[in-house]
Amino acid sequence: MNTRISVKNVDLDADANNGRTLTLNILRYNPQLDESRPQMVSYQLQEAPGMTLFIALNEIREFQDPSLLFDFVCRAGICGSCGMVINGRPGLACRTLTSQFSDPEITLLPLPGFDLIGDLSVNTGKFMRALSENIETWIHDYEAGLPNIDSLEQPMEPELAEQIYELDRCIECGCCIAACGTKLMREDFLGAVAFMKVARFRLDDRDQRNDHHWYGIIGDDQGIFGCMSLLGCEEVCPKDLPHQSQIAFLRRKMLTSI
Ligand code: SF4
Ligand code: SF4
Ligand code: FES
Repeated sequence: MNTRISVKNVDLDADANNGRTLTLNILRYNPQLDESRPQMVSYQLQEAPGMTLFIALNEIREFQDPSLLFDFVCRAGICGSCGMVINGRPGLACRTLTSQFSDPEITLLPLPGFDLIGDLSVNTGKFMRALSENIETWIHDYEAGLPNIDSLEQPMEPELAEQIYELDRCIECGCCIAACGTKLMREDFLGAVAFMKVARFRLDDRDQRNDHHWYGIIGDDQGIFGCMSLLGCEEVCPKDLPHQSQIAFLRRKMLTSI
């Protein structure tokens, strides 16, 4: 990839200069535009107290470059839209304070492993939807047939409900996929987010799928046996999901289900 550095000069207000001057180096590329070529573009702005990368990027878009593409919805670490590579590490821009970096120069890249929409915006939705369809992320109750919205909710032990809730906190941000060496080497690898979804539905006693069924989905190199256990997924997951223990558990279960 051809990259070049250019700096957009910004007229910083000297009176407001009570913090650091940040430099955000951002990979700009819009594959929808024929004339667009990948390039690093640097923007400078004044750091403010409590500034997150979300705030910094919005400031750049509002005052310097309205063409900058990035995604946000909730600003609270809930929607999973703002995943990007921040100084080499996948993370959520809305949960990242600029003050946590001692170096005022910060580099932002789009998450690898997903279709690029443009600049820092990637299509995680397409990936997550395909994954959900592959795993069929809904309760499979073969006797009940089609779901009946008028039927009473099935009771569940609170302890089990809590365990399921713990595994169901994924916000589909894509950080674990971007941090996964296996996923970056082989496109068909399912990745940690898929294993977490399998673990969640496997635990749910309303779901009648057995380990033989799950083996058909994750019991090969595309699945749990392709995982190299380097745990980049656990390292970057903003929801601190227990990837290490669930991957080890699923691997053991799949081995005994053959
Ligand atoms: S532990 Fe497995 S799923 Fe997690 S990052 Fe490493 S290879 Fe990917
Ligand atoms: S498992 Fe964690 S890192 Fe992966 S998509 Fe879900 S919340 Fe994001
Ligand atoms: S904007 Fe929703 S998680 Fe960051």
